[in-house]
Amino acid sequence: MSLEKLVPKLIRASLDEDYREVRSLSMRVIRRLKESHPKIAEEIADALSEHGIGASTKRAVGISDSPVDMETLQSLCKVEEPIDIDYPIFSPRVNELVKNFIREREESKKLFSVGLTPPTSLLLYGQPGVGKTELAKYLSGILNLNLITLDLASAISSYLGKTGQNLKKVLDYAKSSPSILLLDEFDAVAKRRDDMSDLGELKRIVNVLLKELEDWPPNTVVIAATNHPDLLDTAIWRRFDRAIEIGLPEQEERIRILTNQLEDKIFDKVSKSFVTLIAEMTKGLSGADLCKLVERTKRKAIIYDINVMDALIKELVDFKGCDSVEFNKKFCRLAKTHMKVSIRKLAEWLDKSPSAIQYYLKEKGEEVNG
Ligand SMILES: Nc1ncnc2c1ncn2[C@@H]1O[C@H](COP(=O)(O)OP(=O)(O)O)[C@@H](O)[C@H]1O
Ligand SMILES: [Mg+2]
Repeated sequence: MSLEKLVPKLIRASLDEDYREVRSLSMRVIRRLKESHPKIAEEIADALSEHGIGASTKRAVGISDSPVDMETLQSLCKVEEPIDIDYPIFSPRVNELVKNFIREREESKKLFSVGLTPPTSLLLYGQPGVGKTELAKYLSGILNLNLITLDLASAISSYLGKTGQNLKKVLDYAKSSPSILLLDEFDAVAKRRDDMSDLGELKRIVNVLLKELEDWPPNTVVIAATNHPDLLDTAIWRRFDRAIEIGLPEQEERIRILTNQLEDKIFDKVSKSFVTLIAEMTKGLSGADLCKLVERTKRKAIIYDINVMDALIKELVDFKGCDSVEFNKKFCRLAKTHMKVSIRKLAEWLDKSPSAIQYYLKEKGEEVNG
């Protein structure tokens, strides 16, 4: 069959949601295009394989039964099977708190047997990009529970006027089977109830939530994540069994995050002292920032065929918008101490003249934050 005949059939099958037919017609389109338009053929193949993964997951967790908005028929939350990811890198204090929480959940039976209940709610707070959502995903994997995510920021704006009703649906759904319900961007709903901008609607929602949290079933965990803990009122704080503050990564954590991210067979191994230097220069960055920094570095190293260390310094200078004298001074001083880098190399890294580098090294720079 010619392409002209295949395409209308393909469109009809998509509109009918006849995925078997879509799949088989797409395979035929790929075969037609493979020689003349390999890029397009590849893209169609990608779409098929990605859709395959999503579809099977949806079937497995019964996402078809998940709640939808009655008018728009949009899904109100995202449902995923237990997510198997590495434990994020946190401070020892956070590790301890997370470990305790997991332990208490795992020992639920033991607790029940003596009339105690495991914790069912957890509040995670801290700046953006410190790994709150990542931790919730990790917990779904380790506790082997489906993860139901409700992004409150988008839910509130798109379901205006019906948020309370929709929220109730999601809560009921989460309670109906063992799972983790992640209320992400929680501050969007949990604004102080005496907030002037409060429209009554928010008040109702908070009340629904508080009421629900009061007798939340023990087989389900509610995790709320927020960047603005100060916006939550005390009634909400009180309702959570545990609260964990996740701070920005300290030097040790930055070293570990950078080391993990830089570990890649296609690149030369980066020395410990170099990672220590970069960790010192990235004070104030979040885990997400560090991951982004390394990702850009790898891209740069591949595209321009340069060494990872050179690429990383270039990205760091760009990323932090650092053409500041303080940054340069700190960088030169630390590079000299940790790595015994030559003036020539420092000049190349910072794109400065050797005499400028000598100036940076001579002057005692003030400690720069970040
Ligand atoms: N502590 C961490 N350890 C390892 N990776 C992290 C950490 N924090 C953030 N990341 C990386 O940044 C990404 C975004 O983090 P995320 O969990 O969405 O942050 P948050 O929810 O706190 O805003 C994660 O997917 C992960 O790749
Ligand atoms: Mg998040």
